[in-house]
Amino acid sequence: MIAPSASDTRILSDFASDAARLILEQARAAIAERGTFRIALAGGETPAGIYAKMAEFAADLPWQRVQFTFGDERCVAPSDAQSNFRMAKQSLFHRAGIAEGNVFRVRGELPPEEAALEYEGKLAAFASRLNEARYVHDLVLLGLGPDGHTASLFPGSPALDEVERNVIPTIGPKPPPQRITMTFPLINAARRVFFLVNDPAKQPVIDDILAGRNGHPAGKIRPDHGQVTWLIGRK
Ligand code: 6PG
Repeated sequence: MIAPSASDTRILSDFASDAARLILEQARAAIAERGTFRIALAGGETPAGIYAKMAEFAADLPWQRVQFTFGDERCVAPSDAQSNFRMAKQSLFHRAGIAEGNVFRVRGELPPEEAALEYEGKLAAFASRLNEARYVHDLVLLGLGPDGHTASLFPGSPALDEVERNVIPTIGPKPPPQRITMTFPLINAARRVFFLVNDPAKQPVIDDILAGRNGHPAGKIRPDHGQVTWLIGRK
């Protein structure tokens, strides 16, 4: 039994708008404190509405100071309907006029190991300029699968045991199977993590994780020097 995680939970009445506002609060604080906001976007379907609200609410945000990474990506072309980049581009980047240079895209169209190494190198180059052992996100957004996966860290996967690399290729049961994912060491180097869950069917998994039960992959998200917040909608 793992000790219950030190995290907090927020039940949101208007999921997309409330989550967007909380993310933008983090952005404004990080920019005020350090001049930039480094955020890892979550994939899947849940976040699209939140990203659209971020674009709607933050016309005044200095987006040129925001650096976007992706917690995971499917090994597909950026134009593919299954691409997390495509979802973020349509719901946020285009709407907010975010420049390409502010988006670290995982090149899912490359062979997986090549895409992972390239992404890892991109993050490491930036981290070393800031004397960071690993790239430090101000905020990592994560979804939750009904099997307790997060990013593309699936139950039973060797990816769960990676303690050195920051980005690796992996195979998952959720289509499309071939993916690139950030690892626990990289995610747990973040200052803050928001889980975004807007499906009551996932509540038993959340309860397990908060109680330290059943060893779900998402339960291993425990930032060394950061905080986890569960943003929960009721659909
Ligand atoms: C992905 C995601 C994955 C997702 C969860 C929840 O690329 O599929 O990173 O971890 O966040 O599976 O997905 P939904 O938001 O679609 O329920």
